[in-house]
Amino acid sequence: MRVLVTGGAGYIGSVVTAALLEGGHEVTVLDDLSTGHEDAVPEGATLVRASLHDSAPVLADVRPEAVLHFAAKSLVGQSQESPELYWENNVGGSLALLEAMRAAGCRRIVFSSTAATYGEPEEVPILETAPTRPTNTYGASKLAVDAMLTSYAVAYDFAAVSLRYFNVGGAAYGRGERHATETHLIPIALQVAAGTREALTVYGQDYPTPDGTCIRDYVHVTDLAAAHLLALPAPAPGEHRIYNLGSGSGFSVQEMVDAVRTVTGHPLPVVMGPRRAGDPARLVASSERIHADLGWTPVHTALTAIVADAWEFAQRR
Ligand code: UFG
Repeated sequence: MRVLVTGGAGYIGSVVTAALLEGGHEVTVLDDLSTGHEDAVPEGATLVRASLHDSAPVLADVRPEAVLHFAAKSLVGQSQESPELYWENNVGGSLALLEAMRAAGCRRIVFSSTAATYGEPEEVPILETAPTRPTNTYGASKLAVDAMLTSYAVAYDFAAVSLRYFNVGGAAYGRGERHATETHLIPIALQVAAGTREALTVYGQDYPTPDGTCIRDYVHVTDLAAAHLLALPAPAPGEHRIYNLGSGSGFSVQEMVDAVRTVTGHPLPVVMGPRRAGDPARLVASSERIHADLGWTPVHTALTAIVADAWEFAQRR
């Protein structure tokens, strides 16, 4: 299939681009390189440096049969401090993209949604039918795009899938996480293990969990990429599907610290800090729906496998 990947110079977008190329797809990457890296775009894909707001001429030229839409601002803290960035890029940018798709006659899309659309869950594991009550602007902006996709499916026969990622980790195809502003647990812990950061601050030890630290559902980026390839042809015109993507089990921050120590063989100095605002105690996905519909089963579910691949990537850089 001829596909356009927005955000293909970023962490997840570049891994999925590599998987698409391996699957025989023809890929054009649209990325403004505001947070992505040109050298992350896999060889074999064509990079067009442009923002979502200027995507219409690109779609008119490329005429893709489908779009995989990763490009977004994705920092929860930043979304609270500068919400306009999230409304403009995530919501305004996505609207411009959907309109560009409509003009170019492209109606198939896979969208990177997030667990943050649910907010604080009433029940765990979280099903796709759970209420969506985002607690930050990042989650609200992604939820708005999910709603856009539903209406475009109804009104314009779009075939759409929203994949709601939980905590993505690991590396694949020589590509991994490298953000200028790092806020995520795994890369920060690995920087401490590598000696480029002094200590890891654990945000809160008084949560109602067995060891008092937050529990998250970590999914390997390789498994996440496989889900995108399965989702791409799945929906019929007029259909908008929503799937959670997690591995179905939860690990605490303390268990992650232990895994990083085991994998790296380095001491990991830890400082106990207060809770980070807006962190739910426990976020674990039910991925039953995508398993039942598309046969997706995560393979790399061991915490040590996720950490080992991220560590190898970090070491090589
Ligand atoms: N944590 C620490 N110390 C750190 C960084 C993180 O203790 O230095 C803890 C957090 O408090 C949290 C866990 O590690 O309990 C995971 O934190 P991350 O920042 O790695 O990930 P989040 O669970 O906060 O965020 C993820 C996605 C977001 C998404 C969110 C949904 O990365 O994009 O889930 O709630 F919005």
